[in-house]
Amino acid sequence: MRNACRELKQSGKRLGFVPTMGALHAGHLSLVRAARAQCDAVAASVFVNPTQFGPSEDLSKYPRNLERDRELLEKEKADILFTPSAEEMYQPGAVTWVTVEGLSEKLEGKSRPGHFRGVATIVSKLFHIIEPDRAYFGQKDAQQAVIIRKMVRYLDLGVEIIVCPIVREGDGLALSSRNVYLSPEERKQALVLYRALCRVQSLADLGERNAQNLRAGALQVFAGEKQVRLDYFEIVDKDSLEPLPDTSRGALVVTAAYVGKTRLIDNIVL
Ligand code: PAJ
Repeated sequence: MRNACRELKQSGKRLGFVPTMGALHAGHLSLVRAARAQCDAVAASVFVNPTQFGPSEDLSKYPRNLERDRELLEKEKADILFTPSAEEMYQPGAVTWVTVEGLSEKLEGKSRPGHFRGVATIVSKLFHIIEPDRAYFGQKDAQQAVIIRKMVRYLDLGVEIIVCPIVREGDGLALSSRNVYLSPEERKQALVLYRALCRVQSLADLGERNAQNLRAGALQVFAGEKQVRLDYFEIVDKDSLEPLPDTSRGALVVTAAYVGKTRLIDNIVL
């Protein structure tokens, strides 16, 4: 993989990289398209990274369909696909980790201890192997994008991080590989995340700036969908992820909720 990428770069091509865990959907493909448009060559990876899953999470049943992923990436004219095995990526006794302290413990990190250590470690490993000029991430995983940016800056990795907008279904549900877990009934309930975010947006459009009031509006929406268990709904600073008292200087509005057994996340930027 390193040789293939170096060869491309030595011929003067700017290399874009899209890391994924596969089960590709239009959200992933939007990243490949952005890379295609902005770089001379595109590398993608499909690797279901075991170290970012908690012990009670869905690692073993995470959707996998490498043949379909390969076809989709070929259609999008990606040049290189990297699909290492877990054994290749993690030798026994691997004890070297990348941790972005502080940011990793908030929000998603509270509910998923160790998750961002796994993410930061695998993304830095992939960056070292592929040595891309640019790497593409989705705003869907807003906290992940903030943490990766910080990691790149602190470790001087020299990769330009591009964050692309959330791709949604027609009714607003954010595309996610985990949406396949939802029953038809749960699929309807899942829309509550987006509806709550839209309530905050419309209150903000009417001039509400107080984070407590905005949050209360969202919680009302969740209260109307009793089957969905809210994990968190927070209004935070876009860079520090610290809670904000008011949104006059902009804010990131993030939420996570369990629809049945499936944990979904979504966000908007005010
Ligand atoms: P995965 O969940 O497969 O997502 C790969 C990339 O696609 C991430 O940058 C994610 O934010 C983006 N993405 C997912 N759904 C999206 C949507 N609806 N719209 C736009 N972008 C979307 O995120 C991971 O994998 C892993 O943590 C990884 C970075 C690959 C490290 O293992």
